[in-house]
Amino acid sequence: MRLSSIFLLCLAAALSSAFVVSHSHMWTKLILTHHWPSTFCSMEHCHPNISYWTLHGLWPNSGSFCNSSWHFNTSEIEDLLPDMEKSWPDLLKPASSGFWKYEWQKHGTCAAIADTLNSQHKYFSKGLELYHKVDLDSILKKFDIIPSEKYYTFSQIEGVIENFYGVKPKIQCAHPKNAGVQILGQVEICFNSDFTLLDCEKEFTLETISKGDWDIPMGVDKASGFSVCDHDTPVYYPPLP
Ligand SMILES: *[C@@H]1O[C@H](CO)[C@@H](O)[C@H](O)[C@H]1NC(C)=O
Ligand SMILES: *[C@@H]1O[C@H](CO)[C@@H](O)[C@H](O)[C@H]1NC(C)=O
Ligand SMILES: *[C@@H]1O[C@H](CO)[C@@H](O)[C@H](O)[C@H]1NC(C)=O
Repeated sequence: MRLSSIFLLCLAAALSSAFVVSHSHMWTKLILTHHWPSTFCSMEHCHPNISYWTLHGLWPNSGSFCNSSWHFNTSEIEDLLPDMEKSWPDLLKPASSGFWKYEWQKHGTCAAIADTLNSQHKYFSKGLELYHKVDLDSILKKFDIIPSEKYYTFSQIEGVIENFYGVKPKIQCAHPKNAGVQILGQVEICFNSDFTLLDCEKEFTLETISKGDWDIPMGVDKASGFSVCDHDTPVYYPPLP
């Protein structure tokens, strides 16, 4: 083969791969988001009856609402429903599938660009699998971070998570005005596209989720829901009221 045709082939390959990447918004990181029902419900006025960390979402770091014609269909995840109800519950409307529909439309359709997540069943079952693997609730308990009336320091909580998983999580709190404390609300653990653990801070792309990490199905996107906890403010980890 002549050198010039090799060059042309390489150029074509480079162009087509560049096209695929920009066209499909391929993400580079998955964010497994957990929330603490007592804190979530204190902000959203629901009545928490769950005292374990529940799954909030599995979010690619790039893209949202990627395919509006790919409709959520509970029949496709029928076998997952018992676990979904327990591990990934809709805290606002426990009997509805609206939360899952929202998570699928906003994040799942974007995650689905990867072959490993290109169906509703693959997406939700991977979310559940990672949630059980991480098992945040047990790890916190095991290292004596338990809901209580006493306060923790931020580094106590961060230290347990970081030491155990070996990566940096993103830990978010609610910040009531003038309270002098912050309330533990959300923990994000991050993964590479091959589902290995990754520091949450590590960014590979410029395009990231910029709105607050807060999903409310059907509601307004509240950028102010949770934000990263302060290092120096005591942390309240509320038990069930
Ligand atoms: C919490 O309450 C909801 C609705 O009242 C119910 O469906 C659900 O099973 C309860 N969860 C637990 C863990 O008790
Ligand atoms: C969007 O979803 C529909 C329904 O699953 C599918 O047929 C179509 O190929 C998807 N479009 C893209 C751009 O992935
Ligand atoms: C939902 O999924 C089931 C099982 O895959 C399928 O039989 C059914 O036609 C789908 N419903 C809609 C509205 O797409």
